[in-house]
Amino acid sequence: MNLFSLRRTPPSLDDLTAEYRQATRQDSVSHEYLMPAAARLAPVFVRGQGSSVWDTQGQAYLDFSQGGGSNSLGHSPGVLARALSDQAYGLINAGPGFHNQGQLNLAQRLCESTGCDQVHFFNSGSEACDAAIKLARKWGQLHRAGASRIISVSNACHGSGFGAMAASDAFDNRFEPQLPGFSQVPFNDLSALHAAVDAKTVAIMLEPIQSAAGVIPATGHYLKGVERLCRELGILLILDEVQTGMGRCGTLLVEQQYGVKADIITLGKGLGGGVPLAALLARGKACCFAPGEVGGSHHGNAMMCSAGLAVLETLLAGDFLAQVRETGQYLRDGLTRLAQRYAEGELRGTGLLWGLSLGDESADALVKAALQEGLLLDAPKADCLRFSPALNVSKGDIDEMLLRLARAFSRVRTAQVQCRKGIAV
Ligand SMILES: Cc1ncc(COP(=O)(O)O)c(C=O)c1O
Repeated sequence: MNLFSLRRTPPSLDDLTAEYRQATRQDSVSHEYLMPAAARLAPVFVRGQGSSVWDTQGQAYLDFSQGGGSNSLGHSPGVLARALSDQAYGLINAGPGFHNQGQLNLAQRLCESTGCDQVHFFNSGSEACDAAIKLARKWGQLHRAGASRIISVSNACHGSGFGAMAASDAFDNRFEPQLPGFSQVPFNDLSALHAAVDAKTVAIMLEPIQSAAGVIPATGHYLKGVERLCRELGILLILDEVQTGMGRCGTLLVEQQYGVKADIITLGKGLGGGVPLAALLARGKACCFAPGEVGGSHHGNAMMCSAGLAVLETLLAGDFLAQVRETGQYLRDGLTRLAQRYAEGELRGTGLLWGLSLGDESADALVKAALQEGLLLDAPKADCLRFSPALNVSKGDIDEMLLRLARAFSRVRTAQVQCRKGIAV
C-alpha cells in the first residue's frame, strides 16, 4: 500500500501498523538541505489521523497544536481527503486569469456566512494581511485624500511579508529598511489609539485575540470602542482573524462574539484545514480593488478552494460550532484544574484556543517534555503554552492530553527542583 495514498474510508489498525512498519524501514533522510530558517523539533512525521500523528519510528503523538490550529478538522479528515481527491481528478488549476467553480462556490458561501461582500483568496495568512494593508491604502486613495498610515498594536503578529511584518511586533530581525507608514499603540488602550489617529491614518489593524503574544484577548469594551472610533474618525477597521476565525473560537468569526463588524477581515490557517489557503474579506466601500491590483499564480486555486469549501461546510453543518464551544469548556475546565496544580499563571482564550501562562520561562522545556510523553504542543512565548487542537477533538483525547501534560509538568518541575538543589540531571 502506498504510504501517502488517499483513502475513501479511514484506515484499519492493521493498515496503520503495516504502514508504520514500512515507514520505519525507510532510511532516515538528511535535513541538511533544508534552510534552517524555521525552528523545528526532531520527529519526522509520516502519517496523521484525527488528533494523532505518527513519526518514522512508529511513535504516536497526540496533537494539540495541529499546525498552530491550521488542521481545523484534525489530521487527514475524510471530508477533506475526498474533496481534494475529487477535485484533483476534475481540475487542479485553471489559472488565476480564469474563474473556477470551486473558487466561486467558496467565495459565495464564505461571504454569505460571514456577512461580507467580497473575498480574494491567497496562499498564506501573511499574504492576506499584506493585501489587507494594500486594500486599506487603496481605500485611502479613493476616500481619505491619500491617507496611508496603518496603526497596529503592541505584540501584534500579522505574518512575515514586509507589510505584515511592519504591522507586527514579533520579529528579532526585521530586515531593515522596513516598509514606512506604520505606527503602534498599546493593545487594549483606547485612549492611546484615539490620540494616535491623524489625517494620514487610514486604518487600525489588530487581532481580536493575540495568539502569538500568548493568547491575549481584546476586552469587549476595547474592541467595541475601536469600532466606534473607526466610524467616528472615518478610518477602516481591519481584523486579523487568521488564527481566531473559521470556528477556532466557537463561532465562525470571533468578531461575532464581540458584536463588532470589521471593514476588512483576514482568514488563513484553519480555512484550508491543513492546505495552504487564506482569504481577504471586505465589506461595503472597502471592496475597492480593481483588476490587476493583487495577483498570484495560485490565488483561488481550484484544489485549495475545494478544501476550503469542505472545511466551511463542515463547520456550518448541524451543531458543529456549538460542539466546539462545549468541548472548549471541557478543555478549559481540565486546564484550569491542571493549572491549579502546576502553573502559576492565568488561562486565557475561548473556544478551542487557549494559552496557559506559567509564571516562569519553562514553556520550551515543557514542550520538549510533552514530546517525550507523546504530546505535541507549542509555546508562543517563553512563559506560555498554547492549545489549538482539532475542532472535532474528543473529550477522551482531552483527558489523555491532560494526563500527558501533567507528566510533562512533573518531569520539568522535578528537574527544576533538582537543579535548584544542585543535583545534576
Ligand atoms: C494572527 C495571524 N496573522 C497572520 C499570520 C500569518 O499567517 P501565515 O503563517 O499563514 O503566513 C499568523 C500566523 O501565525 C497569525 O497568527
